[in-house]
Amino acid sequence: MSNPDMSHPVSDEKKVKLWDFPVRLFHWALVIAIVTAWWTNRQVMIDIHAIAGYSVLALVIFRIIWGFVGSSNARFADFLTGPKRVINYMLKIPSGTMADLTYAGHNPAGGWMVAVLILLVGLQAFSGLFASEDTFLFFDGPLVAYVSSDFAGTMNWIHHTNINLIYAAVGLHVFAAIFYLVVKRENLIRAMVIGTRQVPAELAERFATIRFASPVLGIAILIICALAVWGGITLARG
Ligand code: HEM
Repeated sequence: MSNPDMSHPVSDEKKVKLWDFPVRLFHWALVIAIVTAWWTNRQVMIDIHAIAGYSVLALVIFRIIWGFVGSSNARFADFLTGPKRVINYMLKIPSGTMADLTYAGHNPAGGWMVAVLILLVGLQAFSGLFASEDTFLFFDGPLVAYVSSDFAGTMNWIHHTNINLIYAAVGLHVFAAIFYLVVKRENLIRAMVIGTRQVPAELAERFATIRFASPVLGIAILIICALAVWGGITLARG
């Protein structure tokens, strides 16, 4: 098989399953929800902005649960490793072989990036529940009425400050995905879309160790999370 990138040994390739359907649905639904929230904020469409934020909240709650009960490579215990492994991995990025850099899930550095992204977007959606805008939109998050004005003020500040961290983290995340595509010739983006990846045949057995959870269970948990967020907000709004 021809391969122009000399850092990859020429070998037969095998198609392996990497990401389950719930993880992929979570990822691209999250991207749509965040882009919608960003765009509707710019367009001052606060009602749709809030709905996008509630969607982010439901997705993040789902992903946290899936991080404990989902497929083995979706679990936090699988991809959150100690600093030594992260540093070793990062040192290998410039010149490492496919065998060094191929993981049947998130790599040690990417795993922490994922945790930071989930935490930041979760904090953004959570703080939005207490945020208010009384300059010209006169909008109160659904939980503002239930907390002290000090707490609401802090959450409002977090909502307006944390977004800059999200820009930085998403920028780095997308840069990393493009870096792997262009420099390392690894299409991780395609794997996040279709769930499978082509890997050298000798590395395929690493992927056989993934234990996939039922996608139906994942969808059921996601629906319950969405209903819980929607129900909670409806109740809070009275
Ligand atoms: C709002 C923007 C985005 C956010 C918040 C975000 C967040 C995330 C999160 C949380 C994961 C972990 C998935 C999981 O384990 O459940 C992930 C993985 C991934 N994302 Fe994104 N993402 C964004 C945009 C993008 C874009 C635009 C691309 C493509 C260019 C992309 C490519 C990927 C890839 C390839 C992975 C898998 C990484 C790996 O193989 O370890 N993401 N992203």
